[in-house]
Amino acid sequence: MNALLEVDDLEVHFPITQGVLVSRTVGHVRAVDGVSLRIPRGETYGLVGESGCGKSTLGRAVLKLTAPTAGSVRFDGTDVASLSGEPLRRMRRRFQMVFQDPLSSLDPRQSVGSMLREGMAAHGLPITAERLRGLMGAVGLPEAALNRYPHEFSGGQRQRIGIARALCVEPDLVVADEPVSALDVSVQAQVLNLLRALQRELGLTYLVIAHDLAVVRHVSDRVGVMYLGSIVEEGPAADLYARPLHPYTRALLSAVPQPDPAAEDARERILLTGDLPSPAAPPPRCRFHTRCPWRQADRCDTERPVLREIGPGHRVACHHAEAIRDGRIAAHEVTPQAADPATGPDAGPDVPGPALSVTDAIGR
Ligand SMILES: Nc1ncnc2c1ncn2[C@@H]1O[C@H](COP(=O)(O)OP(=O)(O)OP(=O)(O)O)[C@@H](O)[C@H]1O
Ligand code: SF4
Ligand SMILES: [Mg+2]
Repeated sequence: MNALLEVDDLEVHFPITQGVLVSRTVGHVRAVDGVSLRIPRGETYGLVGESGCGKSTLGRAVLKLTAPTAGSVRFDGTDVASLSGEPLRRMRRRFQMVFQDPLSSLDPRQSVGSMLREGMAAHGLPITAERLRGLMGAVGLPEAALNRYPHEFSGGQRQRIGIARALCVEPDLVVADEPVSALDVSVQAQVLNLLRALQRELGLTYLVIAHDLAVVRHVSDRVGVMYLGSIVEEGPAADLYARPLHPYTRALLSAVPQPDPAAEDARERILLTGDLPSPAAPPPRCRFHTRCPWRQADRCDTERPVLREIGPGHRVACHHAEAIRDGRIAAHEVTPQAADPATGPDAGPDVPGPALSVTDAIGR
């Protein structure tokens, strides 16, 4: 059976232009640079990575809110790019988005009830008091909330309204972009639990985007780790957290505190040196080689690693993943280096850039 969402070799490149009177394109930001993923119906895919790695752009391209440069998005077997007009409008009902900051995405002049009625009317769905009450109940808000305005609610309640607005049109897929990042930690778990409960009850499919690995851990069936526009590792959530294979995933996970005191004491911190390179001039070949503590002289900066399956359903884009996993090569200190933009991502072996004055560190 086909997955509900199938993304293949998706690219979204934004032109960088210069010039006041005559504008010319001087380069491209490779926000999404060749992403493929599948989300079966009823499952949750958690997408994580540092700020600026292209998560939101990927989410927006999936919902056809941003035009892809290349690649395809198939939703329930239909190529989304082929849709326009009425068929696109009908399809749009089936995929909805939940945003990070509900206050900026909710109309301050509209009551909650009016917002939900408008959403349902736009897609010709029957509007009944019972349905509105049901929606409020489903997201854990009192019926009286229907007559109130967004500013009258707390952050967590506003996110519940954002979820109700997405659900009021009975979608199949919900893309939740940083759904709890703006909330207090105590409220985050409540909203994540609500998303899970709604998924079970309504058979929803989720793409949950977050920069925090801890957030997607408990809601995801599969997790994809994104770095500079590409997925560098993907696997079943439990497996990926227990056995991270890509050096970048290892570094991200090493920063997550462990609830178990013994595990916390044993936790080895891998501190990445250097800033995230610019997606306008990503390092050639392995995109991570400028920051990788396991970088080898062999292949890392001469050949771009592709995602390949190493365990059941567990894929990783690293030439040396098996050797790292088996402890045959060890982490070493990194002298951060800037990628030379002149070499570009598709140029030949790169020329090491100047050393930056950032502390190298692999420590505890
Ligand atoms: N409309 C646009 N025009 C030009 N560049 C863009 C546009 N939207 C995003 N970008 C650039 O694309 C890259 C990826 O941005 P994106 O917002 O997708 O990242 P993100 O992973 O969601 O980051 P964050 O965690 O901060 O939300 C960034 O370098 C960003 O500046
Ligand atoms: S291919 Fe090389 S540089 Fe890239 S992640 Fe693997 S070890 Fe590091
Ligand atoms: Mg984002």
